[in-house]
Amino acid sequence: MGSQERFINHYENGFMPWIHSEPDFNLVEMIDNWPIKPCKALEIGCGTGVDSICLSQNGFATTAIDVSPIAIEMAEKNAAGLKTEVEFKVFDFLTKDLPKEEYGFVFDRGVFHGADNLAERKILAEKIAGTLADNGLWLSLIGSADGLKTDPGPPLRTASEIVAGIEPFFKVLAIRASHFGNDQSDPARIWVCLMRKR
Ligand SMILES: C[S@@+](CC[C@H](N)C(=O)[O-])C[C@H]1O[C@@H](n2cnc3c(N)ncnc32)[C@H](O)[C@@H]1O
Repeated sequence: MGSQERFINHYENGFMPWIHSEPDFNLVEMIDNWPIKPCKALEIGCGTGVDSICLSQNGFATTAIDVSPIAIEMAEKNAAGLKTEVEFKVFDFLTKDLPKEEYGFVFDRGVFHGADNLAERKILAEKIAGTLADNGLWLSLIGSADGLKTDPGPPLRTASEIVAGIEPFFKVLAIRASHFGNDQSDPARIWVCLMRKR
């Protein structure tokens, strides 16, 4: 079974330990304090859409994709009635082509870290670079190998695995140790990694 089918099954079985009810504070801090200006934005693996809605409410023209139809249905319900215009789409970014040089900003929370090895990381980084316009930015929230492995819990990556995986497509502007913003009392440690397309 591929990773896409696994995620589709997780939503069908109601097993989504990554769900968070408020936008992740790491995203909010980055768009408040870093030069990530409102532009066309893409969230890959948007899940239930909380962070895409936040981007849209902060002036980003946001498209949000997920391979799970249930996730997109939940995201659309979360957005209903709010002042937001996210375009939610069921879309598998591994098997389908993303539009070329379309976006100024790509966000993922817990997607890049799912790539299991260097080759998979490079494939994903190249796809993201291809859909970003010149100088486009990618912000990724990535489980950190400095945290403890938990079950359930995110895949854990070292900073050097991240840097090796994004080269030669991106340069790192900032990488910072943090934790996921969620409702858990002891959230998993993460890297907050902001990159610019080379
Ligand atoms: C760890 S979850 C994180 C979800 C969301 N970003 C969050 O933090 O709540 C990873 C998400 O990526 C989606 N995903 C995995 N592979 C995908 C693919 N090939 N194309 C689109 N979405 C994918 C999954 O369905 C899942 O919603």
